[in-house]
Amino acid sequence: MVFLISCKTRKIDNIEQANNNLLKKGIMKFFIDTANLEQIKEAQALGVLDGVTTNPSLMAKEGISGKHKILNHYSAICNLVDGDVSAEVIATDLEGMIREGEELAALHPQIVVKLPMIADGVKACKYFTGKGIRTNVTLVFSLGQALLAAKAGATYVSPFLGRLDDISTDGLHLISEIRIIYDNYGFETEILAASIRNTMHVINCAKIGANVMTGPLSSITGLLKHPLTDSGLAQFLADYSKGNG
Ligand code: E4P
Repeated sequence: MVFLISCKTRKIDNIEQANNNLLKKGIMKFFIDTANLEQIKEAQALGVLDGVTTNPSLMAKEGISGKHKILNHYSAICNLVDGDVSAEVIATDLEGMIREGEELAALHPQIVVKLPMIADGVKACKYFTGKGIRTNVTLVFSLGQALLAAKAGATYVSPFLGRLDDISTDGLHLISEIRIIYDNYGFETEILAASIRNTMHVINCAKIGANVMTGPLSSITGLLKHPLTDSGLAQFLADYSKGNG
């Protein structure tokens, strides 16, 4: 009897532990990687968008230049989405990053300050962590860099999956190893799989436990598509028409 009770207790403990682990992991977030307002609106309308990431190249692609226009554009993005909006600093020295980051963070509560993975970026991350300002450490390509970002208290770390794949290096493997290191120590930094290029990147990131993926609109809408869904729906509608005129 005692043995049975202790088995039952252990089972309940295990279930509770598993639930706690699930709760800790939370849902997988979908961010869209663009500064294009129409695409952001389209993703938001789908009801599955959790945020936006931008970078200086994406802003330039939309023709947004000059401090005033850049800040206004970030505000416009924040007003379109319910969720985090990563806005990247341009400065590469600590003082400049702190100045720009504070200005960006003051713009809107949804702003996350995006910092490059360089020594001053890590120092700035630590500074913002101390101030309660959320950060996204970007341009991460190695485990050492991911470990440093977590140690500095980054809210998000952005390993660039697609750019690693482009040079025949396994980007997914990097993300899965970051997952192991973060789980070993309970780092709360969220793994934001960046430089996503296609739907399989999204699915594989979900399999290995990336907290967030950021990709183009096509990587989100592409998840909808299956020819059997299309042909099945066409058949259902045709059969309905036969009986209902
Ligand atoms: C987002 O945070 C990154 O800047 C972005 O995903 C980089 O993507 P790319 O490699 O397609 O430029």
